[in-house]
Amino acid sequence: MHDFSPLAGSDKPALYADLIAAARAITDGEPDAIANMANVAALIWQYVPDLNWAGFYRLVGDELVLGPFQGKAACIRIALGSGVCGTAAATRATQRVEDVHAFPGHIACDAASASELVVPVVHDGRLIAVLDLDTPLPARFDEADAAGMEAVCAAIAPALQG
Ligand code: SME
Repeated sequence: MHDFSPLAGSDKPALYADLIAAARAITDGEPDAIANMANVAALIWQYVPDLNWAGFYRLVGDELVLGPFQGKAACIRIALGSGVCGTAAATRATQRVEDVHAFPGHIACDAASASELVVPVVHDGRLIAVLDLDTPLPARFDEADAAGMEAVCAAIAPALQG
């Protein structure tokens, strides 16, 4: 149905511009937040190289609960303030972790993960979810990735609210 073709070897500004356009297109007019999270996780998996996990944890009550993702089966519930995801949710600040083994309380869902990027998804002042990206490469994510993923989350946040 949708045939998005990432530009091979493109630079990061081009990659994220492309990813944002695709994420907007695939969520446009669709009110189901879970379906939209599933498609955005699939797009990120397709566009962004060297990931071993990409997906969402949703804020349900006062904890994070596993949402749509690509990668290995993962832990289901994360308390606010716990691990990288819980820290991003509690502080509403992007967590860019170059070495997950050095992060206090890191939750190892896949032993292969070496670095991680977690971006809060906020809409109308409410935390909806966090976007979690893991990679087996140390220090895989730079400031351009953090800014790019924050822009992705800002663009699609209205489509991810339950
Ligand atoms: N590493 C995360 C847990 C989620 S998995 O990586 C998919 C954390 O420390 O919050």
